[in-house]
Amino acid sequence: MKVLVIGNGGREHAILWKMKQSGKVETLFIAPGNAGMENLATLVPLQVSQGKELAQFAKDQGVDLTIVGPEAPLVEGIVDIFKSEGLRVIGPHGEAAQLEGSKAFAKDFMTRHEIPTAAYEEFTDVDAAIAAVDRFGFPTVIKADGLAAGKGVIIAETKEDAITALKDMMVDKKFDDAGDKIVLEEFLTGIEASVLCFVDEDTIVPMESAQDYKRAYDGDMGLNTGGMGTYSPSLLFNDEIKNIVRDEILTPFHEGLKKDGLTYRGIIFIGIMIKNTDVKVIEFNVRFGDPETQSIMARLNTDLIDIFMAMSENKLKELDIQWSNQHAVCVMMASGGYPDAYEKGKAIIGITEDMLVFHSGTKRVGAELQTNGGRVLGVMGVADSLELARAKAYENVAKIQFEGAHFRTDIGTIVKSK
Ligand code: AMP
Ligand code: GLY
Repeated sequence: MKVLVIGNGGREHAILWKMKQSGKVETLFIAPGNAGMENLATLVPLQVSQGKELAQFAKDQGVDLTIVGPEAPLVEGIVDIFKSEGLRVIGPHGEAAQLEGSKAFAKDFMTRHEIPTAAYEEFTDVDAAIAAVDRFGFPTVIKADGLAAGKGVIIAETKEDAITALKDMMVDKKFDDAGDKIVLEEFLTGIEASVLCFVDEDTIVPMESAQDYKRAYDGDMGLNTGGMGTYSPSLLFNDEIKNIVRDEILTPFHEGLKKDGLTYRGIIFIGIMIKNTDVKVIEFNVRFGDPETQSIMARLNTDLIDIFMAMSENKLKELDIQWSNQHAVCVMMASGGYPDAYEKGKAIIGITEDMLVFHSGTKRVGAELQTNGGRVLGVMGVADSLELARAKAYENVAKIQFEGAHFRTDIGTIVKSK
């Protein structure tokens, strides 16, 4: 069969790598992809925002299955476009994608379906928001309602910081229309974790756990990033927490979709905060996580094509999804300066055939592989123990070089929260 993946990061690279192992795929396309994917798939020069053109391409090429990686096209309704053309596609409709596209939509959904989450209020008027800040105490969490490339959440330590953030978003339109509405939220403490699930209309199946490291530097210091590394399975996710998540979050989430008439055949990635046995939802993402997917795909035994096909036919219930007992570690090598300003176009050397490396932001210039993003490479270690997987990943990291490269050295360890 012919399969199209939409996206250009490490997440999409890991999805392609896994699908390539299926005996069922004859042609793989990636739009637009990056240099790391050249050996796995045909790179298609269409951007993720070109929904109509992508659907036309899928029709012209006789693509049997399309997987949408990033959130922006999902929120813009790319699944609706594909489905209206009779194409098989994995991802939620535009309306359900508002679970990620609008913080207010997500909070209202959680309230309606009694899913535990931080207390909140929504505002469209800046003066009303400023007047309400004190009610939440400090730190206060301020969220732009719409998509803001992962930058729309501000944790304000003081009233002054809160007022500045609110004015930036609502008056100066720092995130364009995404900040016309904001959500003020209670600050949660505890341990953050990611729960990713396969979803169709009949069932919701959690994947193996993965732990993300969001801050730029060791010891959870520095700014929030898209994710500096992951490992799977997570040490923090025991059976007790798993059961709480299933009963208090996954079940009401799935029933909530049905009650609201939201058809969902895709991935849901739920960000949670765990404090003892108190588990609250921080956010929904309507897609695979990056770099969670890299560690998770490395441990998936079941044919990923079978999973996607089952989801698209509402037959997920009939599958018994299998995982390996191995441990996976993904260390992200980032450009100097990331997540602030950084330079691109640095030559990358040292990647060899025997390494498993998922490319996040690379390009090929002549014969040279160069950096082309903030996050550049997800360097993997997969082994029978977490220690060995960590050692393998860092052994490979030590062999890869590009000017300014930075990475965390504590991926796969438990970082004590400050
Ligand atoms: P989000 O885009 O909603 O994932 O928020 C980005 C990050 O901000 C999360 O990964 C958390 O680290 C942090 N965050 C969001 N909401 C809260 C909250 N209510 N309390 C504490 N931290 C939060
Ligand atoms: N790793 C976090 C995300 O994909 O949003």
